[in-house]
Formats: sequence, C-alpha cells, structure tokens
Amino acid sequence: MASVSKLSPYRIELEHVTKSFPLQRAGLLGRRHSERFTALADVSLRVAHGESLAVVGRNGAGKSTLLNLISGVAPPTSGRLWTDGPVTALLELGIGFHPDLTGRENLTLNASLCGLSRVEARQRYGAIVEFAELGEVMGDPLRSYSSGMWLRLAFAVAVHSDPQILVIDEILAVGDEQFQRKCFDRMAEFRRQGKTIVCASHVDGIVSSLCERAIWLDHGRLVRDGKVEEVSREYEESLRSAEASR
Ligand SMILES: Nc1ncnc2c1ncn2[C@@H]1O[C@H](COP(=O)(O)OP(=O)(O)OP(=O)(O)O)[C@@H](O)[C@H]1O
Ligand SMILES: [Mg+2]
Repeated sequence: MASVSKLSPYRIELEHVTKSFPLQRAGLLGRRHSERFTALADVSLRVAHGESLAVVGRNGAGKSTLLNLISGVAPPTSGRLWTDGPVTALLELGIGFHPDLTGRENLTLNASLCGLSRVEARQRYGAIVEFAELGEVMGDPLRSYSSGMWLRLAFAVAVHSDPQILVIDEILAVGDEQFQRKCFDRMAEFRRQGKTIVCASHVDGIVSSLCERAIWLDHGRLVRDGKVEEVSREYEESLRSAEASR
C-alpha cells in the first residue's frame, strides 16, 4: 500500500476499490466451481485529515471489509487505496491477542502491533492498565477474561498508541455503559486533536454523536455519503420500511 505525499489533504483515499472473495461451492457430481463473492464493489472515497466517518449498513453490507482494507489487513482485489499516517485498528475482537499469554504479555504484544516501542509500552503500561481497569488480573491468562475485559484491554492499548487514523469496528457494542462512556470521551478527545476516525456500526447511536460524516454501504456498494444526521436518518428509514414490508 502506497503512502500519499504529506501534502495531500486526505488521510484516506480509495479509488474504485473492489474486494471479492473466492467462494468454493460443490457443483454437479461433486465438482467444485470457483466463484467469487463481491463484498465491496467499486467504492471511491476520500477522508480528510481530522474528519470522522461513520460507516453504516446492514449485516453483510461490507463495513468490516472496508475497515480491514483501510487498516491494511488485506489488499483490495482491484482499485487503489492510500492511507497517510499510522493506522491503529480495533477490528474483530481478539485479533492480535493470544489466549494463553497473560494480560501483561498481551498488552506488550498488542502495543507493538499498534506501533509503540518496548520503551513506550513500558512507560505507558500504568496508564493503559488504569484505563482498562484490569489491575488485578494482568497476570492472568487472557483465556480467563470475559469478552468485555478483552475489549477493555484492546481499547486501552489502542487509545494509548499514537494513531493518526483510528479505525474501530463495532467494538463499542461489547463494553458496559460506563466503559462505553469512557471510550466515547476518549474518541471525542481524538477528534479534538484532529485525528481521523473511521467507525462502523449497523445500528445508529454512538457513531452519530462522534462522527460528522457517514457513508452507507448496501450489498458492497456505497449508496450514500453525507452528513451523519441525513445519512443515518435515511438508513434508519430504509430499515423501518424493510421491517414493515416483511
Ligand atoms: N474472508 C471472507 N471470505 C468470504 N466471504 C467473506 C469474507 N469476509 C467477508 N465476506 C463476506 O462479505 C460480505 C461482507 O462482509 P462484512 O463482514 O464486510 O460485512 P459487515 O457489513 O461488516 O457485516 P456485520 O454488520 O455483520 O459486521 C458478507 O457477505 C461476508 O460473508
Ligand atoms: Mg462487520
């Protein structure tokens, strides 16, 4: 993935990005046909420095696929994608974590995945653990953590790294309300610092108070791009009318 020049006004640029996956289907006489499923179809998008973007759409619309591409987890099948500056991503819960290692070991490992050096990780250790509120269990293997505790650790590490681009996939849905509040405040602070945020959600809620802009994905296509209030209103209406016609 190429980095755009520092003079670019954009943090993230996608030009006609398509992502498809091989689908193995058993055909007649057990022969396997190789088909491809298009999860993201011809998406063009520019996200400016300091902009916060919500990605809405139904289950399977392509939100996580888009966030994975932006995070560099996977390359596009076709089209071009640039990001400018370090990306810290909170993708599916558990990516970058090892159940057999302790919370402490996982913290160090995850901090390095988020771009922190060993020294920085050591210096920020106390602050990260305090944010996560996991002081007593940092010596326990992660296997013994609840999903909410994994989330706390992942989020705490992410917000104590120095991302210019913060990518968050649905993840806030897991924590309890008090922790969600804390994460939300932290993200609002990121916003004030002019960082770029991209977050996905299939429901409205936190995202609309955090993001000024939203895109709506439907079957892998970008169908709306605009102010978060307008895009989420249209999206919610479409959900209600789909519900009513069922
Ligand atoms: N690695 C993969 N191999 C095959 N198909 C995939 C793969 N990853 C995603 N897909 C498919 O691509 C489509 C989009 O998936 P994606 O996870 O991006 O949706 P989403 O909008 O994040 O949905 P959700 O709201 O459920 O999280 C889905 O139909 C999914 O089954
Ligand atoms: Mg998803």
